[in-house]
Amino acid sequence: MVRITRIKMIKPYFKSKDKAFTLLHGDIFELLTQFDFKFDMVFADPPYFLSNDGLTIKNGKITSVNKGKWDKSKGFDYINNFNRRWLKLIRDKMKEDATIWISGTIHNIFSIGQLLTELDFKILNIVTWEKTNPPPNFSCRYFTHSTEQIIWARKNAKVPHYFNYELMKEINNNKQMKDVWALPAIAKWEKSCGKHPTQKPLSILTRIILASTKKGAWVLDPFTGSSTTGIASNLIKRKFIGIDIEKEYLEISKCRKLEIENTPFLDRYRDNIQDLKNLR
Ligand SMILES: C[S@@+](CC[C@H](N)C(=O)[O-])C[C@H]1O[C@@H](n2cnc3c(N)ncnc32)[C@H](O)[C@@H]1O
Repeated sequence: MVRITRIKMIKPYFKSKDKAFTLLHGDIFELLTQFDFKFDMVFADPPYFLSNDGLTIKNGKITSVNKGKWDKSKGFDYINNFNRRWLKLIRDKMKEDATIWISGTIHNIFSIGQLLTELDFKILNIVTWEKTNPPPNFSCRYFTHSTEQIIWARKNAKVPHYFNYELMKEINNNKQMKDVWALPAIAKWEKSCGKHPTQKPLSILTRIILASTKKGAWVLDPFTGSSTTGIASNLIKRKFIGIDIEKEYLEISKCRKLEIENTPFLDRYRDNIQDLKNLR
């Protein structure tokens, strides 16, 4: 039985009836030092620090690129220090055979890649998520940005990690799965509980969790937002703890968990996630 020893001392913002979905409210730099539980897998979608008052096009309308005060552009040194601090704390929360997935764009991915090496992680893959329906480029001075990178790394260079190679092959028409995944950007049905400005699609998180964990595994998302990681984890019988500094996003997370406890909603989630459809 997995005992979350010192995590019990932190009052959760929300804990589901099935005990497989826990949300903690606060700053990771304070919360992560308050418990010593070790996870099987971490997914992190940290702030990209791209909110620089620029403009983009969303649903055909000119919109600000700003996401929120947590994402304000603060310069390379700040981004690097922020990433070093949370990566150090997270490494300590990982089992020796655990892996971590970190998503990013040109704004932060080079900093993350360098720090993973500096902190003795072993980089396994850099998955490119190719968005099948990207927003157009507003300035017409660059190629349309249509990808995000997700770095997959393991904690310990000497300890083997888990990879569900056969399942990934099965999902991919019995061909080896490549590190380029063509999956659509977030769909409307995924926003039924409200909007998070950088919500990840469930199709990405489901594939990540299927590839790198077994049933019953404990998954941590330190920047949980709307808890796409938690919803995907629970849909495929993994257990989840998510942290966010903004209560507004934890409310969206809680609503999404309550939705999947309800059969018609659960079926809609399962029917719309590419890899779950293919596995039926
Ligand atoms: C890029 S978003 C994650 C979105 C998430 N992947 C989803 O699917 O909804 C980053 C999140 O980190 C949270 N955040 C930023 N700084 C934080 C901190 N120091 N501690 C905890 N959460 C933080 C923000 O509130 C935001 O929701």
